[in-house]
Amino acid sequence: MHTSAHIGVTGLAVMGRNLARNLARHGYAVAIHNRTPQRTRDLATGCANEGTFVPVESAKEMVAALERPRRLIVMVQAGQATDDVIAEYTPLLEAGDVIVDGGNAHFADTRRREAALRQAGIHFLGAGISGGEEGALNGPSIMPGGSSHAYDLLAPVLNDIAATTPEGTPAVAHLGPDGAGHFVKMVHNGIEYADMQLIAEAYHLIRHTTGYEPQRIAEIFREWNRGRLNSYLVEITAEVLAHRDADTGLPFIDVIADTAEQKGTGRWTVQTALDLGVPVSGIAEAVFARSTSGHATLRAAGSALPGPAPTILGEDDAARFIGQVEQALYASKVIAYAQGIHQIQAASRTYAWNVDLAAVAAVWRAGCIIRASFLDRVRESYTARPDLPSLLADPGFACEIGTAQLPWRLVVSRATRDGVPVPAFAAALTHYDTLRTPRLPAALTQAQRDYFGAHTYRRNDRPGVYHTRWDSDRSEQPIT
Ligand code: ATR
Repeated sequence: MHTSAHIGVTGLAVMGRNLARNLARHGYAVAIHNRTPQRTRDLATGCANEGTFVPVESAKEMVAALERPRRLIVMVQAGQATDDVIAEYTPLLEAGDVIVDGGNAHFADTRRREAALRQAGIHFLGAGISGGEEGALNGPSIMPGGSSHAYDLLAPVLNDIAATTPEGTPAVAHLGPDGAGHFVKMVHNGIEYADMQLIAEAYHLIRHTTGYEPQRIAEIFREWNRGRLNSYLVEITAEVLAHRDADTGLPFIDVIADTAEQKGTGRWTVQTALDLGVPVSGIAEAVFARSTSGHATLRAAGSALPGPAPTILGEDDAARFIGQVEQALYASKVIAYAQGIHQIQAASRTYAWNVDLAAVAAVWRAGCIIRASFLDRVRESYTARPDLPSLLADPGFACEIGTAQLPWRLVVSRATRDGVPVPAFAAALTHYDTLRTPRLPAALTQAQRDYFGAHTYRRNDRPGVYHTRWDSDRSEQPIT
């Protein structure tokens, strides 16, 4: 058997297989293994012309095949399978070897695994990989977290196989220790949910307000893709809307069931945001929109509820409205990204990760599902000011959103008036207005809390913490 494979991949389903091919195409001799050996054989024989594969049938053989320090990429199903594979390899590996988890692990699991493996002297890199099947093969966006030493051992390989940004740099960067990479990947997926929901709302609104056929709306998305909304998701939206079903000849969008599924990373993003106390309302609305779409009974019951019929606009008004939707989509998208970035900032502070947000924007610029031109500007913003408190504090974005706010309001108003659901557009606008409101009704909330639970309050006019005796003479007691 070959004993000097440069790197190993275990788990050869769609992502693992394509990542192994990507490695082989870049000249690495790749030891390959899968629980079910047929997948290993299929890859070794089916793609033999792409490079050097070293098929192995056990963890022992894998360990024997790898050059030292060993680098093993685990591409098995996230969760228990990852723990099982790590448990199998831990006694076989030596101090200094590196395990890379390229699956969609929860960042808390990555933190736990990294800490446990560190005890055994084994390095662990939790690497979020985005770009789907095609990305894994031709260049994904890679979001690794772990020790600097572990990253340095993998960096040359990751630089080779990652997507290339328009600046010519690889879409990979060391994002921080332990779970930082998987956290950034999780938020990437959360933003992806929000971005997709916003695009879906834009399509839905345009269709209901103009009566245009999907093919015509595809043209609008194609046009938008030439401007500031340029992104992979807008590009594929145009493709999907232009597509006709081969069987029926109907627009494809009209023949597929309107229930969206999810694998759970959007849900994790929201759950984690709740724990961190960070508002990610755009992502939350997107997750809820998917779950609502799947509640058939609820929707059947709701279908009898009264509401307005949308008014169809004439050609000139329709053209004006479409321009307004573009503004609303762009502004809402900026809010969704700002919320996701805030979540990364909060986690970075909590876990002392020191995540470089400019690097995050650069890694998201190519290879991944949320790749978009506007990320260049996000990167520039955080390069100029790494401590920027919010994306909305960037003068360029603030100015653009300021210009967009009136059309954005008109779009949300029309949607509300016509009864077209726009949960993500509305949540984004509400977030914007919450941030600009000098005095929030939270004062009333806090007073109520003091009334029923003696939770105390602070005053605007002097320091200290107070409680009012609501049940007696309503006198104010200083607490501290
Ligand atoms: P992908 O997203 O790449 O399509 P996935 O569902 O995340 O795939 O993971 C599937 C991979 O995990 C398969 O390689 C599977 O092995 P089999 O081909 O034998 O099914 C692997 N896998 C799942 N559970 C595993 C376990 N307990 N031990 C080892 N490998 C496991």
